[in-house]
This record gives sequence, structure tokens and C-alpha cells, in this order.
Amino acid sequence: MTDPKTFIEANKERLLDEIFSLLRIPSISADPAYNSDVAKCAEHIAEHMNSLGIDSVEIFPTAGHPIVYGECLVEPDLPTVLVYGHYDVQPADPIDLWDNDPFEPIIKTTKIHPEGAIFARGACDDKGQMFMHVKALESMVQAGNQPVNLKFVIEGEEEVGSDHLDEFLEQNKERLAADVVLVSDTGIIANDIPSITTGLRGLSYVEVKVVGPNRDLHSGLYGGAAPNPINILCELVASLKDDQQRITVPGFYDKVIELSTDERTAMAEAPFSEEEYKASIGIGGTEGEKDYSAPERMSIRPTLDVNGIWGGYTGEGAKTVIASEAKAKISMRLVPDQDPDEITQLFKSHFESICPESCKVEVSIMHGAHPAVTPIDHPGFRAAAAAMEATFGRKPVPFRGGGSIPIVTSFEKILGLKTVLMGFGLDSDAIHSPDEHYGVFNYFKGIETIPHFHARFAEFHAG
Ligand code: BES
Ligand code: MN
Ligand code: MN
Repeated sequence: MTDPKTFIEANKERLLDEIFSLLRIPSISADPAYNSDVAKCAEHIAEHMNSLGIDSVEIFPTAGHPIVYGECLVEPDLPTVLVYGHYDVQPADPIDLWDNDPFEPIIKTTKIHPEGAIFARGACDDKGQMFMHVKALESMVQAGNQPVNLKFVIEGEEEVGSDHLDEFLEQNKERLAADVVLVSDTGIIANDIPSITTGLRGLSYVEVKVVGPNRDLHSGLYGGAAPNPINILCELVASLKDDQQRITVPGFYDKVIELSTDERTAMAEAPFSEEEYKASIGIGGTEGEKDYSAPERMSIRPTLDVNGIWGGYTGEGAKTVIASEAKAKISMRLVPDQDPDEITQLFKSHFESICPESCKVEVSIMHGAHPAVTPIDHPGFRAAAAAMEATFGRKPVPFRGGGSIPIVTSFEKILGLKTVLMGFGLDSDAIHSPDEHYGVFNYFKGIETIPHFHARFAEFHAG
């Protein structure tokens, strides 16, 4: 294999310019005001892939945002790797908290990224990481050495729950036939501690509404006897955890698989400093279930978190009012073998049952994801481990991540494929937050490592 390092060295500026162009398109999937930008982003990627000579590139419309599909098949006897990524991004709000325009990328150095990081919404999640695969293909094509057939599925709805991807997979089973799915949409422990994500948490996401009086009331005239939906919502939410920080929804833990002592010991080998963790997010201490370490609480244990809560008067100054309703958005991160639909139902019944007679509650279901675990004896995992060892000079540590990627179970269920999560981001890259960034080191390291993955996968797959 011609060393991908040579390709990167010769094309550094262009590789950065190209990701910058992609980051300038505000492809925010959640906000319909950006629909045309989302479409433009899909076209931009398709055009770019076309320009690289990828045999067939197509944009598949869905009932939501389009999917970009591309194929570069070299030889029917070679194994096929299906690369998945997403080009949609989270909203940039609150914009005021960004140091720079979220859609005008710039490179700045940070303590963790002394060689510079690209600051922009989507830099790490997932445009920067997805694009590494396109550039890795370019380097293989230039080297005249593509050791596997490649198929690319790049979707535009990951950040809103991938609602239309299952249908696309169902309708294109043959087209998408492959031997493994490769995804770079997770992270490593540190730039000198490569790691591979072996599991992700699932998700149940709901919005709850407490409805009290039929209109907003004067809090002096009515206060005391009229139910206050905001107070009641707070009480209900507070009761969802007990004093041991265990979630009180009946049946919530029934299907949680407890890890063996051996598994927990192996996990504890991944380096983690509680002090650095606290300092990095500016907190005085951690929360959570006793008997579990902070990394365990963030990966192998389920959670319940309020993501937003509102109601009543939030403007300038004081207004004396009892609001007619109050709302909250609640996420529950799930672990094997919790089922998102079942947990959502358990939550809904419980929440309805604890509402006092004075009010009504409504629970609406937003989205869900199944937890996923990827096997470490699969040729895909072994290829990722070998590739990272080759480029980082150190064996990667397997570890379980706390986030969710709903499509991992879809690939397994619909296409019968295992997914390898070979991501290159860092937890400190501020994905979903203001000042999201992606290390220039990480971007180039990904482009360098991916061709190694393909070469090793071809080898291991052949046996
Ligand atoms: N790429 C993230 C998930 C992720 C990041 C997993 C880092 C592990 C490490 C993905 O884009 C994401 O944000 N997923 C959502 C899922 C949801 C929108 C259904 C999440 O985890 O909140
Ligand atoms: Mn992502
Ligand atoms: Mn995301």
C-alpha cells in the first residue's frame, strides 16, 4: 500500500479547504427553515463524490431529508465495506455562546489540540468524520490500490432520529449487500490513547406536559388553591429518582444486564481521571448511582435526564402569574437489553399514574434507539484494531460509549450486518455544544487510518 501519509502530506491545504466548504452549509435537520440547505449539502457531497470518479452516486429522496449513496466497486471477489455517516448537524443555538460563526469554519489551537482544530458546527459530528472516508477513498484511488469494494450511505436525518433510513435499507437490501458497516461518528479516549467503541446506549425520548387551570391566572388572586403546573411538573420530575439516584419508573431496570466483575475490571483499565473530568466541565463533583464509577454511569448504566423544562413567564422583570401549563423534554439512555418502546410505555404509564387529580398530564413520544454492542472477535473489529495500532503506534482500548446511534441496530436487523465504530473525535470536542471543533490531527489521522482498515479487513475476511 502506498502510505496514505504521503497523500495527506501532499494535499494538506486542499483537504482542509474541502471540509471547510462542506461545513459552510448549515445542514440543520431539525429546523425546517434549513431544508434547502440540507438538500444543498446532499448535492454538494454527491457532486464531490462524482468528481472523484466514484462509479455511481445517487441522491435518494426520502419523506424527510435525502440520502446520498455512492458505490466504488472494484472486484466482485473482494469483500465489501458499507460506510455510513451523516451530513446533517445539530442546531447551532445558542449562537451567542459561540466565539465564531458556527458556519464559517476557522482553525484555532487549544490545549488539547496544539496543532489546531477546525471550529464549526458539524466539524466533528459528523461532517469532518464522514468526509475522512471520502478522502481516504481518494487516496486509495490515487495509489491505485483499493483493497475492498466500497458503498457509502450518507444520511441527513441522524440528529433527528433517522426516521427514514430503515425504509431505505428495506427497499435496497440487494444494492446494500456488504460484509461489514464502518462508521466514524464516535470518539477515542485521547489523541495518544486510541480506542474503539464496542457499545452504545439506546434512547427513549419523550415530551411531557402538565395542564392545570384553563388559563394563566393572577398568582395572588388564585395562588394557594389553584394547582400550579410548573410546581407540579417539578415535583413529578423530582420523584423520578430516589435518594439513591435510582430511577423510580417501575420495571425500568428489569432488563438491564449487569456486567460481570471481569467485564467491569476490563472496563476500568481504560484511563479515566475523575479530577480531570471535573475540571474539564467545571463541576465540583459527579452525580449518579453509588457502587458504579463515573465511566460506568456514563456507559453501562441507564439514565434519566431533563433536557429542557419551560412554562410561565420567562421574560424580563417579574410577572405574577400561575401558568396554565408546563412542559419538559426527558431523555432516557438505555443499556442492553432494555427496549426503547417498552421503556417509553413504562414511563408513560408511570408518569400518568403519579399526576395529582388537580391536573392532567400528556406524554408524547419523540424518538427511540436500541442499545448496541459490537463483538470484538469480528474481522471488522480486528481490522480496526490493527489499523489504529499501525497509525497511532499503540493498541486501541475497547470501550463502551454513552451516546446513541440508532441505525446500528437497523444495519443488524435489516441487512444482517455488524457495525464497527471507528471514530476519531474527543469528548472535549463539544459536539452538540457551542464551539464544536475537530482536531486537525484527528481529521488527518482518520484519513490515514481508514485505508489501513480496508487493507486489513480484506486480509482478515479472506481468513
Ligand atoms: N455521533 C453522535 C453519537 C455519539 C457521539 C456516540 C459520540 C458516541 C460518541 C450522534 O450524532 C448523536 O448525537 N446521536 C444522538 C442520537 C439521537 C439524536 C437519536 C444522541 O446520542 O443523542
Ligand atoms: Mn453523529
Ligand atoms: Mn450528534
